[in-house]
Amino acid sequence: MKMGQIIDGKMVAESMKASIAAEVKELLASGKRAPHLVAILVGNNGASETYVANKVKSCEELGFSSTLLRFSPSITEEELLQAVRDVNANEDMDGLIVQLPLPDHINPDKVMETIDPAKDVDGFHPINIGRMAKGLPAYISATPQGVLDLLAYYKIETAGKHCVVVGRSQIVGLPMSILMQRNHPVGNCTVTLTHSRTKNLVEMCQQADILIAALGKPEFITAEHVKPGAVIIDVGLTRVEDASKKSGFALKGDVLFDDVIDKCAYITPVPKGVGPMTIVSLMKNTLLSAKGLIYPKNN
Ligand code: GUN
Repeated sequence: MKMGQIIDGKMVAESMKASIAAEVKELLASGKRAPHLVAILVGNNGASETYVANKVKSCEELGFSSTLLRFSPSITEEELLQAVRDVNANEDMDGLIVQLPLPDHINPDKVMETIDPAKDVDGFHPINIGRMAKGLPAYISATPQGVLDLLAYYKIETAGKHCVVVGRSQIVGLPMSILMQRNHPVGNCTVTLTHSRTKNLVEMCQQADILIAALGKPEFITAEHVKPGAVIIDVGLTRVEDASKKSGFALKGDVLFDDVIDKCAYITPVPKGVGPMTIVSLMKNTLLSAKGLIYPKNN
C-alpha cells in the first residue's frame, strides 16, 4: 500500500516566516516601528521555559522586538494582573502572551480576561473566542491556525468532509472544532468533537476523513482508529523520559506514526509537523496587531 504523504510543517513554517520577515522590513522602510511581542513567564516550568525561549528567538529572527517579563511563582494574582494592565496601556507593545500553566493560586481565566483583546495574540480572551465563533475578525489561537495553514498549503479538500477532533481543550480541541465547521476556504466540515467521556471512540475515529488528535496522550491513536486514506493531524507534544537523549526526554505525538503511515493519505509528524507552525501563527497575529488589522488602532 502507498505510504501517506508527510506534511512538512518545518518547511511551511520557514516559508511563512520569510514572508513575515519581508513584511516587517516594509513596515520599517515606511517609518513604522517593528512589531513588539511581550511574553510573561511565571515560575520555571521546563516546557514553558522552552516554549517562551523559542518565541523570543523567533522574534529576533523575524525582526520583531520582544520583551520577556519573568516573575517568581510566588507573585500574587493582583501583581500579575497589574503587570498585564501595564502592558495593555503601553502603546509600543502590540501583543501579549501569558505562558500557561500558571501556579495554582492564580486563576488563568482572570488573567486571560484582563489582557486587552486587541493585544491577545494567543486568541484566548473570551471576546476573541466569541468573535471567532461568530466568524468576525479575531485573533485565532496559534495551534489551530497553524493546522488551518497546513491544510491550505497542501490544498487538502475540507468541504463536506467529516472531521473528528479528539480532545476538547480550550487551547486546541474546542477552537479547532469551531474553525473546521466554518463557512470558509478551509472549513465546511461536518465536525465531531470527541473527548474522555465519548463512547465508541474507535468507531468515531474510523469515520474521520480528517482526524485531528489533540488529547495529549502519547501514541494513543493507532491503525485501528484510522479510515484508509484519512488525513491525520497530530497536535500532541508530550515529553516522555528517554535516557538515550541528551535532554533526557523525547517528544511524542498523540499518534503512533509507524502504525498509521501506510493507512493514511497525509500525516503531520512529531516533531516538525504542527509544532513549528504554532510559533509562526503567533508571529502572524502580532504582525496583524501592529498593523491594526483585527482591531483598528486610533493612531
Ligand atoms: N501553554 C501551552 N501552549 C500555550 C500557548 O499557545 N500559549 C500560551 N500562552 N501558553 C501555552
